[in-house]
Amino acid sequence: MLKIRQFQPTDMFSVIKLASETLTERYNPSIFNYFYETFSKGFIVAEKAHKIIGFLIGVKINSEKAKILMLAVSELYRKQSIGTGLLNQFLKVTSIENLKRISLEVRTKNKSAIKFYQKYGFKIEEKQKEFYQSGEDAYTMTKDL
Ligand SMILES: CC(C)(COP(=O)(O)OP(=O)(O)OC[C@H]1O[C@@H](n2cnc3c(N)ncnc32)[C@H](O)[C@@H]1OP(=O)(O)O)[C@@H](O)C(=O)NCCC(=O)NCCS
Repeated sequence: MLKIRQFQPTDMFSVIKLASETLTERYNPSIFNYFYETFSKGFIVAEKAHKIIGFLIGVKINSEKAKILMLAVSELYRKQSIGTGLLNQFLKVTSIENLKRISLEVRTKNKSAIKFYQKYGFKIEEKQKEFYQSGEDAYTMTKDL
């Protein structure tokens, strides 16, 4: 059974491992703890058979704005609505917090993620040149709530 729930400190190792397997940016492991401590409601995981198979980290930037910093689903479990479940849970959090807008950055080459976000009403707002460590460009995408 799939569970979408808030991150717990015992998930830390699995999330760091999944991030390193699925995301191209490299993150200092301490950053995960920082996000948990600053906005724990926005740190959401997908668990199946006691295994972490996806996660989303969203933060509150101010009283109106949220930002999705990371979203990833384990390759084996993609296209099974798990990303959708994580995003929907984050949308519930933004609604409870009465936030008005969500933004995020995505690689301009990451067609599947762009399609994913467009399906849920995110629009490409601008291109950010050499946004990533690799020198790749990003799109900023936003959704008004
Ligand atoms: C982007 C990602 C999180 C989507 O997760 P997912 O669980 O596979 O997504 P879902 O199954 O909920 O897909 C929902 C919709 O998104 C779109 N979508 C998802 N993957 C897609 C793909 N590979 N190609 C085209 N559209 C896609 C489809 O419209 C899909 O709806 P459908 O299944 O009815 O066609 C996942 O592909 C991933 O982890 N990618 C690697 C990490 C990454 O790029 N993260 C985003 C960085 S900003």
